[in-house]
Amino acid sequence: MVVAIEWLNEPNPHIRLIDQTQLPHNEVYLEITEVDELVRAIQVLAVRGAPALGAAGGLGVPLAMLQAEREGWSAHELEENIRKIRDARPTAVNLAWGADRVDAVREEGFAAALAAALLIVEEDEAANRALSRHGADWILARTGKDRVRVVTHCNTGALATSAWGTAYGIIHELHQRGALELVYVDETRPLLQGSRLTSWELTQDGINHVVQVDGAASSTILRGLADVAIIGADRITANGDTANKVGSVALALACNYAGIPFMVAAPYSTVDLDTPSGDHIHIEERGSEEVLNFAGASVALEGTPVFNPAFDVTPHDLVSAIATERGIVEPASSPDPRVMA
Ligand code: MRU
Repeated sequence: MVVAIEWLNEPNPHIRLIDQTQLPHNEVYLEITEVDELVRAIQVLAVRGAPALGAAGGLGVPLAMLQAEREGWSAHELEENIRKIRDARPTAVNLAWGADRVDAVREEGFAAALAAALLIVEEDEAANRALSRHGADWILARTGKDRVRVVTHCNTGALATSAWGTAYGIIHELHQRGALELVYVDETRPLLQGSRLTSWELTQDGINHVVQVDGAASSTILRGLADVAIIGADRITANGDTANKVGSVALALACNYAGIPFMVAAPYSTVDLDTPSGDHIHIEERGSEEVLNFAGASVALEGTPVFNPAFDVTPHDLVSAIATERGIVEPASSPDPRVMA
């Protein structure tokens, strides 16, 4: 299994990332020793996916502490640099959550901060494996099928997490139980996390899949070719509204119309109880070049105006189930406005 992000002590303490912008054709690793390098890696999506961003936020704090010592930063400069990491992208709550959790023990010194950051990584893998078991159990019980056909969107595998994956973890669990027939992988425009990353991971794991263009997904569902859609999440608000990669809500609408379950999978670190509903989520808008180009080639007139939200929000009443390490909640059938609490 690929390791998306880790802390290495040799030859000097640093963060090592696989550069996801280069996949699937080149396996290039970035050795990060400075805050600005980490912020850039987050912003260009060299490291991405909500739980992996939680690890980046957490590991970023000891990284900043080392740089502060080397360069003689004031306390204020160190705080500003940690804030830069925390705010490098706005939608995935895990990034700020990871940075804040480690920042809270910074006064105890470098060793305590590093230990807190490494615990985030360790807990994420355990959470992903547990939520995958809960998710697979629920899907098999709900569909009543021995083998299921799944639609998924974006990348939620080991690359998007500390290890194992979220929605991808459930798919992997179903595969290991012999209960998976086929995965329809949305290519995920504009940055193709599905075709570049999810398909790469599924190939490595020997999991039967086809890549489809995003526009095919709702028809795949309405034609009865899929039994369930499973996606990850960047932020789940108290009422179960879910922000995820743009295109996710279209899957939810199609599943609702077709009467098949729509499942969201995330570690509990993606749940943001301070935000009551999806109306309050800050949706990242990214540059026009991502839409006006395809694999580096221009596909529209230069200067064409663009709207490029990176995420959308699926209202809780379209979400059949949310799988976390704590178990399953069913927002669509729950009257509780704080169903995630
Ligand atoms: O813009 P990205 O690639 O960071 O978006 C990632 C997603 O939307 C993932 O599906 C989500 O973070 C869940 S990751 C397990």
